[in-house]
Amino acid sequence: MAKAQVISLINMKGGVGKTTCAVNLATYLARDHGKRVLLVDFDSQTNTSLSVMSETAWEKWADKHGTMADVLEVHGKKKRGEPAKLADCIVHDVLPEVPGLDLIPSHLALTFIDLDLAARPGRERIFSRKIEKVLGDYDVILCDCPPNLMTATQNALYASDAYLIPMQPDYLSTLGLNLLQDRLGYLTRELEFKIRCLGVVFTRVRGWLRYHAETMERLRSAKEFKRLYFFETVIPENIKLAEAPMEAKPIELHDSTATGAEAFRALTKELVVRLK
Ligand SMILES: Nc1ncnc2c1ncn2[C@@H]1O[C@H](COP(=O)(O)OP(=O)(O)OP(=O)(O)O)[C@@H](O)[C@H]1O
Ligand SMILES: [Mg+2]
Repeated sequence: MAKAQVISLINMKGGVGKTTCAVNLATYLARDHGKRVLLVDFDSQTNTSLSVMSETAWEKWADKHGTMADVLEVHGKKKRGEPAKLADCIVHDVLPEVPGLDLIPSHLALTFIDLDLAARPGRERIFSRKIEKVLGDYDVILCDCPPNLMTATQNALYASDAYLIPMQPDYLSTLGLNLLQDRLGYLTRELEFKIRCLGVVFTRVRGWLRYHAETMERLRSAKEFKRLYFFETVIPENIKLAEAPMEAKPIELHDSTATGAEAFRALTKELVVRLK
C-alpha cells in the first residue's frame, strides 16, 4: 500500500496561522478530496487539539489513552507506567462530520521536551521511528509545529517528506523567511535528511492594505526567493477563522460560507495538485 506523504507546517514566528492552516487543510483534504488524513499536534499549546476536540473530550482522551507527550516519551515515567503506543494515541474520526480525519493530540507536558530529552541520543528521530507503522493507513499526515525549530519540530521535520510555510505578508516576517531557510539547511545537513519545500502560504491577508499587497508582490518576484513556490491562494484575515475553534470546529463546520472557508477550499485544491 502507498505510504502517506508527511508534511510539516513550520514558521519560527508565532501566531502566523500555522495551526489554522493545519486544522482546515486537514479537514478539506479529508472532506473534499477523500484523503485519509492524520493531523499531529506537536505544540504544547494544544491549539490544534482544542480546535477539533472539546476540552473535556481532550482531558478524558489524554488521561485514558495518550498524547504526543507519550509518543515523544516526555512523561514516560508518569503514573500509568509504560508510555502509550503511537497507534493507541490516535483519535479516529475526531469529528463525526468529517470521516477520515484522525488526530494525535498534544499535551502541556511537551513544554519540557527540550529539557527532558536533552541527554537522549537520537531524540529528534523518535517520531519518525514510531510513525512508520501507520504510514500505510494514511494518504497525508499533517504535523502542526510550535513556533521554533527545537526538539518537537525536529521530530516532525525528520519524519516529513515536505514542509509548508504559513506566513503573514509583513516586513519582519520577510526577514524570518531567510532565517528559516538557513536554519532548515543547517538542520538537514546536520541530521542528514532530505525534505522538500511545498511553498509559502500568505495568511491573515488584509485585502484592503496596500502594504500587504506590496509585500506579497515583492516576495513573489524577489530574486533570493525565486526557487520558492508561493501559493496563489492567500488566506484572508477573517474573524470566522478565529471564532471556529471556540466550538472546537474547523471553519467548514462553523460557517461554510465565510471567506476563510472559501479560501481554505481553494488552498486545499492547490495543495493537492502540488502533492501529485
Ligand atoms: N486568517 C485568519 N483570520 C483571522 N484570525 C486568524 C486567521 N488565522 C489565524 N487567526 C487567529 O490568530 C491566532 C493565531 O493563529 P494560529 O494559532 O493559527 O497561529 P500559529 O502560527 O499556529 O500560532 P503559534 O505560533 O502560537 O502556534 C488564533 O487566535 C487564530 O484563530
Ligand atoms: Mg500553532
